[in-house]
Amino acid sequence: MDDLRHALVVDYDPATARSALKAHTRHLNQHGDSLRWQAVVDHLPLVQQQWRMVDGWLEAGSEYEDPETLAESLRELIPWRKGPVKLGGVAIDTEWRSDLKWSRLADPIDLRDKRILDVGAGNGYFGWCMLSAGARRVIACDPTPLFVMQHQAIRHFTGPAENHLLALRLEDMPVEIGEFDTVFSMGVLYHRRNHLAHLIDLARRLAPGGELVLETLIIPGEDRNVLVPEGRYANMRNVHALPTVSELEDWLEQAGYANIRCIDITPTTRQEQRQTEWMPFHSLAEALDPDEPDKTREGHPRPRRTIMLAEKSSALLS
Ligand SMILES: C[S@@+](CC[C@H](N)C(=O)[O-])C[C@H]1O[C@@H](n2cnc3c(N)ncnc32)[C@H](O)[C@@H]1O
Repeated sequence: MDDLRHALVVDYDPATARSALKAHTRHLNQHGDSLRWQAVVDHLPLVQQQWRMVDGWLEAGSEYEDPETLAESLRELIPWRKGPVKLGGVAIDTEWRSDLKWSRLADPIDLRDKRILDVGAGNGYFGWCMLSAGARRVIACDPTPLFVMQHQAIRHFTGPAENHLLALRLEDMPVEIGEFDTVFSMGVLYHRRNHLAHLIDLARRLAPGGELVLETLIIPGEDRNVLVPEGRYANMRNVHALPTVSELEDWLEQAGYANIRCIDITPTTRQEQRQTEWMPFHSLAEALDPDEPDKTREGHPRPRRTIMLAEKSSALLS
């Protein structure tokens, strides 16, 4: 927390940073399990703090002498969705092989010395990838308290680092907190009821010349088209709109972006998203139609995701 306070209050607008920190603490404390999770984090064993990325794994902390007891504590923070991470020598095989997503976007993006905002960061796994790629600092936000507690557990092993996660929705992050060179929104747009408002809000956070990295679910097709699922999509509630790539390009233009490029389209596979010991609930396999695996169980096209890059257009700079 001291590290987070220092990063925000010292280097960003202090009054705004203080109120963001208060909202972060209030939101975390409101959750019914927060005391239990906090006790887990507070009692994690002391190891040498260190971190590095090895073949897509975040390896944090030196190996703890009693891995079974440590694994028992870390299981209190299940479900672990984003990773993979190895903490104190305990390998956490997360639901998502998030390293595969990172490998699809790392090459075309230059993060050296960049100030980054990662919106909907989950437990902040990608922040470590960003720092490894040379980013100066990552400020992230995610309103799901468990993921923020996982982030704190991870930081217990990494030690202080410029990867900071606030328990806030983007809408509750004051714009005055500061400008960012690169803003990531991955896996968030389809959860937002008003997609244009989300894209415009992201643009407001970008410094002049800054870059948006947008990753989201799409539907196949060359033309402009949108799927608005009635009820669930791939078992998920709160999926509001899935565009084709050309529809998404149009949304980005409407939101004031320029130089819009699609750098990847990849169907989600059972290699990338699956049930594991650390996420023992339904995953992609249960979301697909067993007879027609190209369809979700609701009869929609199966999940496929795109990564788009875009710049804040000069018309929006003032
Ligand atoms: C599908 S996960 C994506 C996590 C990660 N970015 C990734 O790409 O793997 C979506 C995340 O967005 C967060 N989220 C949902 N609404 C949000 C909002 N309004 N602002 C910021 N994050 C939000 C959720 O808590 C969740 O952790």
